[in-house]
Amino acid sequence: MAYENLILEPIEHGIYRLTVNRPKALNALTPETLAELEAAAAQVAADPAARALLVTGAGDKAFVAGADISRMVDMTPEDGQRFCEAALKAFRAIELLPVPAIALVNGYALGGGCELALACDFIVAADNAIFGQPEVNLGINPGFGGTQRLPRRVGTGMALELLLTGRQVRAEEAQRIGLVNHVVPRDQLMAKGLELARQIAAKAPLAVRYTKRLVHRGQNLDLDSACALETQAFGLLCASEDKREGMRAFLEKRPAVFHGR
Ligand code: CAA
Repeated sequence: MAYENLILEPIEHGIYRLTVNRPKALNALTPETLAELEAAAAQVAADPAARALLVTGAGDKAFVAGADISRMVDMTPEDGQRFCEAALKAFRAIELLPVPAIALVNGYALGGGCELALACDFIVAADNAIFGQPEVNLGINPGFGGTQRLPRRVGTGMALELLLTGRQVRAEEAQRIGLVNHVVPRDQLMAKGLELARQIAAKAPLAVRYTKRLVHRGQNLDLDSACALETQAFGLLCASEDKREGMRAFLEKRPAVFHGR
């Protein structure tokens, strides 16, 4: 499928790269871009051979510098809500993809950009990455999930500080507070993303899919309900060919060959 504001491309063996592609506006998110993000997530989800998605921004300067301010300036309350609902749908579609999504942050990830990165399963940052939720400077609150996903990632106190001051944090601090998993030199960002995606792609696909789903679904449930889902999934995976293969391979001291069945 062709997109105007994104590039979605398979780069190798089930690994897709999604690039937000509006570099002149530092990849700021418009309503059209959000609709395309949702469609792109659906496209990846529909590919049974998909194993991982890398999400990044075009150009040298930004991952995504936020929601597009020129499009928000005259929004009515209804427009504003529709805009946020579109983001919620698109970001949730990425978060609930059957395969992991890894954000590769190559510069500014502000406002909606930080929120997009947070909708990915984890974040790898280039050493020039800068994160922040500057909405308080604009007279709005984060509307693309930031007030919910940032505290879940870095804890309530740190999230509140960042949300209420709008302070921007560089890659090293982002890693220290648990927002970012790895920081790498800018020219090694894609290689690091690919290395992690390949590691995951080599694992049992159904096990990866269920594990991701359990973490995301479980966060909205009480512990007993979430653990009950985990138990159920474990039972289901006991019926899979990959479980037999994984365990036999261990006992026979050979590498496992998984087929996602
Ligand atoms: N929306 C629209 N356009 C944006 C943008 C945004 N969020 N961020 C950058 N741009 C545009 C600039 O207007 C500029 O366009 P022109 O060349 O046509 O003037 C171009 O991108 C380059 O930006 P700058 O000239 O400003 O570049 P800089 O290096 O001087 O500064 C920056 C970079 C610090 C990221 C600065 O652009 C900036 O502060 N951007 C806005 C960041 C922001 O406030 N984001 C949050 C938006 S609100 C949000 O996202 C809410 C939500 O949850 C829904």
